[in-house]
Amino acid sequence: MKKKLSAVPKALPRIARFERLGFGLFLHWGLYSHLGQGEWIQHFKKIPVRRYAGLAKKFDAAEFDARAIARLAKEAGMRYVTLTTRHHDGFSLYDTRGLSDFDAPHSSAGRDLVAEFVEGCRSEGITPFFYHTTLDWRWDSAQCDTKTFHDYLDYLRASVEILCRHYGKIGGLWFDGNWSRPGADWKEDHLYATIRKYQPGAMIINNTGLDARGRVGHPELDSTTFEQGLPTAPDHRGLPKYLAGEMCETMNGHWGIGSDDFRFKGPAEVIERLCSCRKVGANYLLNVGPTASGKIPDYEASVLRLAGRWIRATGSVIYDARPISARCSGRDFLLKGRDAYYYFAFDLARRGDAHVVVSGGGNGPRAIEGFPSRIRNARWKDSGADILFTQSKDNSLLALQCDGYDYGEDLVVRVAELIPEK
Ligand code: GLC
Repeated sequence: MKKKLSAVPKALPRIARFERLGFGLFLHWGLYSHLGQGEWIQHFKKIPVRRYAGLAKKFDAAEFDARAIARLAKEAGMRYVTLTTRHHDGFSLYDTRGLSDFDAPHSSAGRDLVAEFVEGCRSEGITPFFYHTTLDWRWDSAQCDTKTFHDYLDYLRASVEILCRHYGKIGGLWFDGNWSRPGADWKEDHLYATIRKYQPGAMIINNTGLDARGRVGHPELDSTTFEQGLPTAPDHRGLPKYLAGEMCETMNGHWGIGSDDFRFKGPAEVIERLCSCRKVGANYLLNVGPTASGKIPDYEASVLRLAGRWIRATGSVIYDARPISARCSGRDFLLKGRDAYYYFAFDLARRGDAHVVVSGGGNGPRAIEGFPSRIRNARWKDSGADILFTQSKDNSLLALQCDGYDYGEDLVVRVAELIPEK
């Protein structure tokens, strides 16, 4: 007897909304940005807490223009920005309203940078998300005794409550650090209940870290996380709740600015990785570490702009089209939109002349097995040019004549729109 497959739960509205955001900008910015060696430098160099705190005197946020950053994110085709409101060093970019004086209003900036952030995002139609650490080196939260840890959790919850009550409607909270004290009772019920009370539409995400990518955690969490690793296809069947997925990754090897780290991703890699996330329905949260004074460095800004041009050239398919099971060759895949299917073709050949074009990639027919319906028309999203195709009688096998790129262009990934018969 055939085993009955369990049903796939329906996504809650906030989760469905999040999936349509698709592509986001992660910002790691704080006192560590002054040292230009990543956000963990205090820990690795064992910089004493008091000495490190001295950086607050230098932190003037002179070039932080939240609206300009939101505008850049929009140009990049990103629909949300996740900012480190507080990282492991314990310094808050928001006004902690008496909870601590280790925050932006008490630094040389003298401003509430989270207030500026949400305002900048909103004026550009970008959804603001808050990263918030749960690991705090000032409290020694990973090692401290249980009593101190409980006090710390009260402080953490009060901090998050401030973020939920004073900055208007936010897209979500993105926690990070529970991996630092495994097995501890983090009192997640209490923390998440506070968020649900003030921000019922907000996503709650808690990073499971490098060695537990995709792990399902507390029932209030709305998405799995894939830190620095391509997401795998989720199996929603039989789960009590439908979960989104999100991959976050650095543009070089550091989250906070690493001035001497040259190992950057280029636009082609970013485009391919964005596509590979959407292949399994996950969001792509790409990180940039702003400079100490709060500016997005030029290289990173250029990469973001090029990614945005690619998204516009493909007609914004990446936001709404969803995964569908069908077998494709190589890295190619198929998505289903409202009125059409979308075929993502990787590694296409570059055409031209052997004197000037370095060949590579392939052209010719590409097959899709398990296609669900009869196709009336196929065309490239970027140019509108028709694509020759042939389909088996039972529709299940579809072959597309995938031409390479003409001399003068290379889109890295090309999207074909397949329009079914009515
Ligand atoms: C890791 C790091 C942290 C970074 C985060 C982003 O958990 O500890 O510095 O903020 O990844 O995903």
